[in-house]
Amino acid sequence: MNIAQFVDSKVWWPEKQGKKMSEEEINIIQEEILKFPKCRMLQIGTNFGWTVWNVLKQLDKVGGSIDTVDYAYAKAKQLKRTMKWVNHVKSVLQTYDLNGMVRYFTEGSNHFFQNECDTTYHVVFIDGDHSHKQSKRDLMNSINVLCPSGVIVMHDIRKSKYLGKKSCLRTFQEFEDPKFTKTLIKTKYRLGVLRSNLDPDGDPDHQRIADVEL
Ligand SMILES: C[S@@+](CC[C@H](N)C(=O)[O-])C[C@H]1O[C@@H](n2cnc3c(N)ncnc32)[C@H](O)[C@@H]1O
Repeated sequence: MNIAQFVDSKVWWPEKQGKKMSEEEINIIQEEILKFPKCRMLQIGTNFGWTVWNVLKQLDKVGGSIDTVDYAYAKAKQLKRTMKWVNHVKSVLQTYDLNGMVRYFTEGSNHFFQNECDTTYHVVFIDGDHSHKQSKRDLMNSINVLCPSGVIVMHDIRKSKYLGKKSCLRTFQEFEDPKFTKTLIKTKYRLGVLRSNLDPDGDPDHQRIADVEL
């Protein structure tokens, strides 16, 4: 069984655990990964890893990798379940000799960008703290580490009962930069997509998909 078959079988995933993404949203992220040979993806907000699990197959296909950041491991309530999952994914990757494919960062996004981030990314998925203040900070930091033709996808770009006007919806609405095309996709939880306007052929970091055997 290869990793794709293994992921498809989802033999281990307990359905009750936090599925915070709809299938449609996962599909959109997967499609983005497939546009970038050797895609480097960054996720803010690992949670229990539903997204990570669902992009392993696509990352394997393009020879890519994911860095995923959450401070959830510090929270006692989530620690046990999260670590169980993290260890499971690690053992799966080891089986397929893909240890380098996922890197976990456990100190939160501010710490990550300031101290740990050591590369640039083609696809950034922001799904961490949904407040206006923090999501804006995550967005600006992400732009600084985005490959020239990369894409940023923000989750939960919708009205928030708890955060009111101080939510990531505002961050997305306020964002204006001629270098990016902004699209709101009406999925279950709403995705905000910021796509660099740069032609990938003008990006030295983007190998054309046709040049690479997938
Ligand atoms: C909605 S969940 C993410 C769901 C995830 N995308 C998935 O696939 O299941 C939000 C996560 O963001 C994390 N988080 C909140 N603020 C964060 C920050 N500043 N840095 C990193 N993670 C953060 C929370 O601990 C939580 O696990």
